[in-house]
Amino acid sequence: MSMPGWKILKIALLVLILGGLYAFAVYKHDEREAIRQAPVALTAACAEKLSRYGLVAGAGYQSPYVLQRTGLVTVTNGYSEDDVRAIQRGCNIIDDTQGRLATDKGRERWNAPRFIRGTHASCNQCHQGVGDKQDADGNRLKGSLSLGASWVMADMYDRFTGLLLPFELRQMQCYINSSNGYKPNIADDVIRDVTAYTRFLSAALGLQIGVSYEEQGVDEIPASFTGKQGDDYIRGEALYKEKCQHCHGPQGHGVEVAGHLVGPAVAGPNAWNMQSRNYFYYVATILPGFICRNMPLGAENTLTNQECRDIAYFISNLPRPAGDKQGPLVALQQQALMRIMPTLLRWTESAMERPAPVPVPGHATIQAPVAAR
Ligand code: HEC
Ligand code: HEC
Repeated sequence: MSMPGWKILKIALLVLILGGLYAFAVYKHDEREAIRQAPVALTAACAEKLSRYGLVAGAGYQSPYVLQRTGLVTVTNGYSEDDVRAIQRGCNIIDDTQGRLATDKGRERWNAPRFIRGTHASCNQCHQGVGDKQDADGNRLKGSLSLGASWVMADMYDRFTGLLLPFELRQMQCYINSSNGYKPNIADDVIRDVTAYTRFLSAALGLQIGVSYEEQGVDEIPASFTGKQGDDYIRGEALYKEKCQHCHGPQGHGVEVAGHLVGPAVAGPNAWNMQSRNYFYYVATILPGFICRNMPLGAENTLTNQECRDIAYFISNLPRPAGDKQGPLVALQQQALMRIMPTLLRWTESAMERPAPVPVPGHATIQAPVAAR
């Protein structure tokens, strides 16, 4: 082939590649737009919550919750059809971040799994009641990590970074560390939809911008709130085995029965990482506070401050993923520990429980069978 012919071919190839990329981007953009327009299949918890809060498109919004609790009729700005779908998607993301309950797994409104490394982490595991935990009488609960109460704090001073963090960045921190994942773009639909949902929650609950409510964040427990016996691994382990293990598993890896999550991971590959504020060695007051107010599920507020600190200390010594600050060596070490520890423990424990093997001359040692766990 002559030189000019070769040149034209190269240019044509380049144009083809760039054109292809452009067409692909247009296709993806259209797909995303179509999903934004599609009706939303709500999870059971979201269907219940959003209908109880009277979410419908219209010129004005009235909160049944506020009416019922205060007798006041409040009318705030209404929601468009687009807003309603964004709020619904946001609720789904909190309740079922990885789309485990969804039938249409590949759809954009469930695209949060792209941002999480584990298989079963979900925002609702910590921000319970789909970010709006209440008792049977509809009272919001202290230290329950309410997302509506968090939204009204708007830009909140963050004592760890020393920055005013907007609501979107606080969400991003939870993707990276609490859910051990990756940072979504600040304008990504997962962030915008969750923001729409939490903004709606604050309207439904009648919360005021800038007011600090007791259900926001965690009711932290510093060592000074205890008898100052020191945090104890042995006490923590015993308490964990007695009160938590049947739901969260012997190594804290979570318990799943027939695809149903009995309790999520508090350690291991599915749990928050070492850069999360839940990690005792990073922030020693948050996990105990979470446990005291929110666990054991169904028997909340039954543990003493010391017990919560002991359990939190024990849990934090179980192997879990490293965060981005710990570096590749610690990450490798944690990965190895997470893989080895469960087997090792099962092994040593069963070796202790089993009757001593009886050596028979000329035969391989026969061991008593180990109970399946
Ligand atoms: C393992 C527990 C856990 C999971 C899972 C989790 N979070 Fe959080 N989240 C926390 C804790 C603890 C805090 C409070 C940190 C603090 O007080 O500094 C928090 C704080 C937040 C805040 C700021 C709230 C405030 O009042 O300051 C937002 C927003 C948030 N999380 C959103 C999310 C979203 C969205 C997800 C799911 C992708 C998620 N979280 C998953 C534990 C969790
Ligand atoms: C009856 C079962 C049950 C018991 C007992 C229980 N939990 Fe949980 N725990 C859960 C469930 C379920 C969730 C997720 C909440 C949700 O999805 O609404 C959870 C969530 C958690 C979380 C935050 C989410 C995460 O990713 O781990 C922590 C921490 C936790 N439990 C610790 C404890 C501790 C400590 C105890 C013992 C004092 C305990 N739990 C006892 C069922 C239980």
